[in-house]
Amino acid sequence: MRYRARWICSLFFVYTMLVLNARSQNTGTFWHISDHHLDPYYTENGQTPMEVCPSSYGRQTDAGPLGDYVCDSPWKLINSSAYAMKKIEPNPDFIIWTGDDSLHTADQDKYLGVDKVIEIVGNITALLREVFPDTKFYPALGNHDYHPKSQIPPGGSAMLTAFANIWQDWLTADAYESFKREGYYKENLDPNGKHVLIALNSNFWYDSNKVVDGTGDPGGEFAWLEESLKSASQNSQKVFIIGHVPPGYFELAANSPKRWFYPEYNKRFISIIQTYADVISGQFFGHHHSDTFKIFKDGSGNTIASMLLTPAVTPWRTTLPGVNKGSNNPAIRLFEYNKDTLFLKDFQQYYLNLEEANTETSADEDSWKLEYRATESYNIPDVSTTSWGTLAKKMRDKCEADSSDCPKEFTLYQLHNSASYNTDPCNETCQRFQLCAITEQDIEQYELCQEKWGSAGFNPVVSVYALAIGILFYFLIV
Ligand SMILES: *[C@@H]1O[C@H](CO)[C@@H](O)[C@H](O)[C@H]1NC(C)=O
Ligand SMILES: *[C@@H]1O[C@H](CO)[C@@H](O)[C@H](O)[C@H]1NC(C)=O
Ligand SMILES: *[C@@H]1O[C@H](CO)[C@@H](O)[C@H](O)[C@H]1NC(C)=O
Ligand SMILES: [Zn+2]
Ligand SMILES: [Zn+2]
Repeated sequence: MRYRARWICSLFFVYTMLVLNARSQNTGTFWHISDHHLDPYYTENGQTPMEVCPSSYGRQTDAGPLGDYVCDSPWKLINSSAYAMKKIEPNPDFIIWTGDDSLHTADQDKYLGVDKVIEIVGNITALLREVFPDTKFYPALGNHDYHPKSQIPPGGSAMLTAFANIWQDWLTADAYESFKREGYYKENLDPNGKHVLIALNSNFWYDSNKVVDGTGDPGGEFAWLEESLKSASQNSQKVFIIGHVPPGYFELAANSPKRWFYPEYNKRFISIIQTYADVISGQFFGHHHSDTFKIFKDGSGNTIASMLLTPAVTPWRTTLPGVNKGSNNPAIRLFEYNKDTLFLKDFQQYYLNLEEANTETSADEDSWKLEYRATESYNIPDVSTTSWGTLAKKMRDKCEADSSDCPKEFTLYQLHNSASYNTDPCNETCQRFQLCAITEQDIEQYELCQEKWGSAGFNPVVSVYALAIGILFYFLIV
């Protein structure tokens, strides 16, 4: 008897080791970083807010060595973020970098210009290359990687050529040519050509870009995206899509809905994602500076794709109206994925508690701490589309039925949304803006979500009150 038990134990041990081994063999990692926004004029000892940093727009500052919640990043902050990445995971398979390198400023011509923006992109590239000399980077162009900001014309420009040259050793020859021409490109993610990465230039679809007008297909990008996805589908490839400006709405602008894409482009992008959802394993975007995600659905409302937005390195407080607080702690995100299938297993998000770090005498890469692990916080088995769909539905159903009874996952989501900077509770308006932006990318569906919020389904609290008032009236009248 005892002998047999020992045998079973040994077999179980061997089996466990085999499973663990198989699992670790096909698990890879990659970083996703975004929105560094270097403010080269930042100085801790400025006498006025504009002297501390022009990115303050004159708002009250509280400057420290690693930055200020109303300013874009000082060099020290960007430097520490890169060394923190190296300390946490020095050997990722690759790094996704979704743009926005220059500062926000009300006076573009004074503080920026074609050469300054190119210099800033060059500075951050040089740092990343110094810290990760042997790692492949996949950059995507942000709306602040241009001068004047967002005004990126189709058909190439001196600035696009400059960036293509700065990034040349990261890009294949085809990707280099494509980027130089239109700011988008694609590459194989693996030597066997089973996996493809598509880097979009979604600035052509951004309604702040006035050199395009929201009709037609600037730079032929939609046609190219469709063709690329169609070819991936025919060749049984899996795809990661990266980009800067996302479709859909900004979850934090709670005065009135704020969307980024021209309406026709928002529709067209969603329709392409719907058609090719099965080949898309992940979409990675930035621009919001917040930590959020987006669900894409088919005609019957089933979740078919998702998009993950990584928070910014800059803590800069947005100037968009209707945003409560609107700063974030600097953050960086490390993914775990299955290298054979591109299936997304998990991510860990690291952040710098800026307020705390500014009080440390020698804050550096060691000041960056784990903020959360996605599967743990959200109680999901992985970070695939199915999991985000389930989480989004649970949060929306519960919050919508009773705003005082949102699930604990939503409370955590709300905290992570600003990389643990804003700890204010999220009231009903805040919940509605958050959850409509997460669950509806289509303009009409989003508007319906806003209009009908709380009216769908049975609300037990409201119903009990209604019944009580009804009974009271009955007795008063009788
Ligand atoms: C960047 O960070 C590294 C690691 O902490 C440090 O050795 C180096 O001095 C920093 N450079 C600057 C310019 O802050
Ligand atoms: C950025 O690049 C410019 C031009 O190469 C250089 O003069 C400057 O010192 C760099 N700044 C930083 C912070 O590395
Ligand atoms: C919800 O919270 C925001 C931000 O804290 C506040 O401005 C707004 O007035 C609140 N709305 C309601 C209905 O309480
Ligand atoms: Zn940005
Ligand atoms: Zn942006």
